[in-house]
Formats: sequence, structure tokens, C-alpha cells
Amino acid sequence: MSSYTLALMPGDGIGPEIVAEGLKVLEKASDVYGFSLDWKNYDNGAEKYLKTGELITEDTLQEIKDSCKAIYLGALGDPRVTPGILEKGILLKTRFYFDQFVNLRPIKLLEGVQCPLVGKGPKDIDFTVVRENTEDFYVGIGGRAEAGTSKQSLEVMREMYKVKFDLDIENTDEVAYQIGVMSKSGANRVIKYGFELAKSQNVDTVYFVDKANVLSDIYGFWREQVESVGKEYPGIKPEYMFVDAITMWFVKNPEWFKVVTTPNMFGDIITDLGAMIQGGLGLAPGGNINPNGVSMFEPIHGSAPKYAGKNVANPLATIWAGAMLLDEIGEHTAADAIVSGIGSVIKEGVVKTKDLGGSATTSDMGSAVAEKLV
Ligand code: IPM
Ligand code: MN
Repeated sequence: MSSYTLALMPGDGIGPEIVAEGLKVLEKASDVYGFSLDWKNYDNGAEKYLKTGELITEDTLQEIKDSCKAIYLGALGDPRVTPGILEKGILLKTRFYFDQFVNLRPIKLLEGVQCPLVGKGPKDIDFTVVRENTEDFYVGIGGRAEAGTSKQSLEVMREMYKVKFDLDIENTDEVAYQIGVMSKSGANRVIKYGFELAKSQNVDTVYFVDKANVLSDIYGFWREQVESVGKEYPGIKPEYMFVDAITMWFVKNPEWFKVVTTPNMFGDIITDLGAMIQGGLGLAPGGNINPNGVSMFEPIHGSAPKYAGKNVANPLATIWAGAMLLDEIGEHTAADAIVSGIGSVIKEGVVKTKDLGGSATTSDMGSAVAEKLV
């Protein structure tokens, strides 16, 4: 029997409740499909930070790297902590540490889910966003300068490359700036991932997102990389879309899309829209993938502090993220069964959480999906 050691990080807000339902379903799947999951708990999040000042340490990350196959995360964020501290100090830190360079976000409207787009159904909304997950405006370098002259040195240190900017700043007004970085190797690997995904699904067009008409240095470079990687995939056509335009087409013609590959920040934005057209954030899972390393799975939504502890949040995004985790570690049959289970529960329409227009609890929903696994 296969056995997997996994890291569990419930996090903040509704995190612990939704992760508990994810665990319920994953444990049931492991019984039914004959494998075992061994969880290591990590209490990183707001509570720990407020008590000890710790976000996530190198030791913790190293321990996960040495012992775990994947990470299952609830959500991070707490009103008592300045926005950005937990997100950057734990979530982004972990994504970068494990070099999880793909953020895979399926946008799939399940049968029985109310779609806000008039006249669109499950056959129209079924695609995957491949979001670059380590670069772009997420590298975290920038600064501020009072009027006058100043110097600033900014660095991005990665295993794959290092880059250092020495700035000589001369300004007549106070300014703030943020530098987006895209590397050739960083762009190439995610573009290749998008093409490979299309190939594996017999999809003949991959949409690539940018804003090359304005931010032409960084996204013009992105297009060049698409052109060059695309040569290895003669049967697949790259189609370019500006980020503003793609938001419009997601709403008007979602059926066009099967695989959408995007730089990091635009990917963040368009996947919230994607979540809405698939029925809401309660249904949208994501995976932070390093195909050769430790990947991390989480719902796209945040910690929803106002619903914390009320047993009302929809755990389906987290359960679905659990299915993606199983897929990544090679338990494909169990993963498919969980996604079908979610589909059946939704289609039957008996157990519905508040966001889906019902009054079922978080735990009712988890149990309903677990019961589908037999
Ligand atoms: C997401 C979130 C994160 C992101 C935040 C919390 C750092 O919005 O996973 O989409 O911007 O990537
Ligand atoms: Mn986001």
C-alpha cells in the first residue's frame, strides 16, 4: 500500500474548518482506494505570528522539503495583522521556497451550479489557467524615495538565477516604485507547461495573456518566449490576448478557452473572475506546482474572517484542491472520484451551503462528498 507524508497548514479564519472537511474526504478516499496519508501539522498563521513573531522559518520549510510530498493549505490572512505580512511571509515565501512555478487553476462550471453568465452552461466553461507563480510583480522588489537623490540596491536571489538592480535615484517629488522581473528560464518553463497541458488534452490553441501594448519590455519579452517555445509545438497555435480584453472574453465567450497561460499578476486577477464564472469563490481550487518538487494545494479564496468559526463556509474549493493534491502525488483514480463526488452533490442540489443558496453547514458539505466515495 502506498503511503504519503503530507504537510497540513490550516492557517487562519475559516482555514481550519474547511481543511477539516478536506481531510474528511481525503481520509475516506484513502480508505476506499487503498493508500494511506500521514499528516504533519504546521500551525503557521496569524495566531502564531501574533504570539511569537514567527511567519515560517527556513527550518520548517526544510523539514517539509525533507519529509513531505505535498502541502495542503487552508487560507491565510487576519484582520489583526497588517495586510501582506502573512500573505508574503508565509504563502509567497512557501511558493518561492519550493519554486512552485505553476499556479494551476481549473475553471470548470459544474452541472447544477448557478452560472452568473446568461445562456452559458457547463460545456461552455471548462478550462485551465496556468499562472506563472514566482516572478513578474510578485518578486517583491521596490521602494520609495523622498525628493532628492538616493541610492537603492534591490536583489532577487533564486536558485535558477540572481538579479541585482543598483539604482541611482534623482527625483523632485516623493516616489514609490515596484519592479517586475521576468527571466527567460522562468517564462520558458511555464509557457512550456501550458503547451504541454494543451498537448495532453488535444487542445489546438493556447491563449497567452499580457499587456504588451503598454508594459512592452516585460510582456514583449513574454511574447518572444512564447514564440520561441511555441516552435516545439507546431500543432498548437498561440493566441495572444491583452489582460483587459481577456476579462471581457471570459464573460462573453468563455467557451473559446481551454488553456490560458499567464504571467503572475494578471493570472491573479483573471482567476478571481474565473472563479466567479464557475459559480463563486467557494468552488475554485488551485495548485501551486513544482513538477519535480513539493507542491501546495489551496482554495483560491481567502480566510474570510467574518465567517470563521461559524461552520457556514463552503469547503468544496478546499476539497477540490485536495483532489488536485491526490492527482499530483499519483492517486488519479481517487482524485477523479472526489471531483465526481463534488459534481454529484452539487447536481443533486440537496446539500447546499449558504453561498450556493442553501443552509447546509461546512461539515454537512464535507460529509456529503465523503459519502459519495464508496
Ligand atoms: C491568490 C492570492 C495571493 C496571490 C495573495 C494572498 C498573496 O490572491 O492566491 O490568488 O496574490 O497570489
Ligand atoms: Mn488572488
